[in-house]
Amino acid sequence: MKVNGKHYRTVSMEQQTIYMINQNLLPFKFEIVSLNSLQESCEAINNMIVRGAGAIGSAAGFALAQAALKASKKSYLQEIEFAKKAIENTRPTAQNLFSATNFVFKAALESPEKAYHAAQNFAQRDVDACRKIGINGNSIITSNMCIATHCNAGWLAFTDYGSALSPIYEAKNLGKKPFVYVDETRPRGQGARLTAWELQQESVPHRIIVDNAAAFFMQRGEIDMYIVGADRIAINGDTANKIGTLEKAIVAYEFGIPFYVAAPISTIDFSCKSGKEIPIEFRSEREVLYQSGFDKEGIWREILIASPNSMAINPAFDVTPAQYITGYITEYGILSAEELTDYIGLDAN
Ligand code: MRU
Repeated sequence: MKVNGKHYRTVSMEQQTIYMINQNLLPFKFEIVSLNSLQESCEAINNMIVRGAGAIGSAAGFALAQAALKASKKSYLQEIEFAKKAIENTRPTAQNLFSATNFVFKAALESPEKAYHAAQNFAQRDVDACRKIGINGNSIITSNMCIATHCNAGWLAFTDYGSALSPIYEAKNLGKKPFVYVDETRPRGQGARLTAWELQQESVPHRIIVDNAAAFFMQRGEIDMYIVGADRIAINGDTANKIGTLEKAIVAYEFGIPFYVAAPISTIDFSCKSGKEIPIEFRSEREVLYQSGFDKEGIWREILIASPNSMAINPAFDVTPAQYITGYITEYGILSAEELTDYIGLDAN
């Protein structure tokens, strides 16, 4: 990914330290944090310094490798088992987190060094898969297309490239001039804050729209296609993604607008038969009731934006039934829901 022209990865690890771009501060401040313990790494995933399914996956793999490298020889097995549980308790919905902990745990049973290599390998696979998603997804983008997206499934949500935005970057680099409608994505504003910032860094023309405006633009024929990411896909194709995705998919279906989900195979939960089995994270009501950012003096502020003393409820994801999804843009091509099962086990080797 490019930040002011320089290449970065969202999350990386060297020796026993994990590095993450602090996404809570973007787009106001670009800062990389270093995490030196299991507790720090788990907190960073839980409080969304790193977020987005692929980036969470790589961070989880690195966190387990970090725990293995730091574990004492005497209590090695107990320590890595404890670490796996602690990491898996940070965020319940993104399947990539569990793909990563299972993959790295197997290697950790052999040695801490093997765990480290497995975690690096997992992160690199995420990069390679997203690159291919870009190439495959580009095939359905025509010149001057107006594409809408929800939340942030760009390179900040992965180790690099991204899922939903990767085809858009590929199309832009090939001169197809895509234009992007960016749903702001309440409550945390991943669209307005992160996707818009990313698109700016990559010089892709775009406009932020309030979540409620998406149907307006679809009805006017100004959106040619939706591409969104995914946090977990059941084997029947039902897809959990940021809250609000379901509504966009139903409206797109009503207006005959293609609605694609872009995700690597590591996002598919092959043990999950349908969306009903996907656990949905509920987050703090503060995310709904308050907005935060830097004021003119550069001081971080939280402001109450709702009626004082009212309570809120805050599901972070919803599940879009497969019937509303036109296709799945993966590293293996653009698949139908029925084709997903052909890839069982491919991410586990
Ligand atoms: O809660 P977040 O920001 O971790 O949400 C996850 C997401 O980023 C989105 O749902 C995204 O569209 C899919 S993750 C690639």
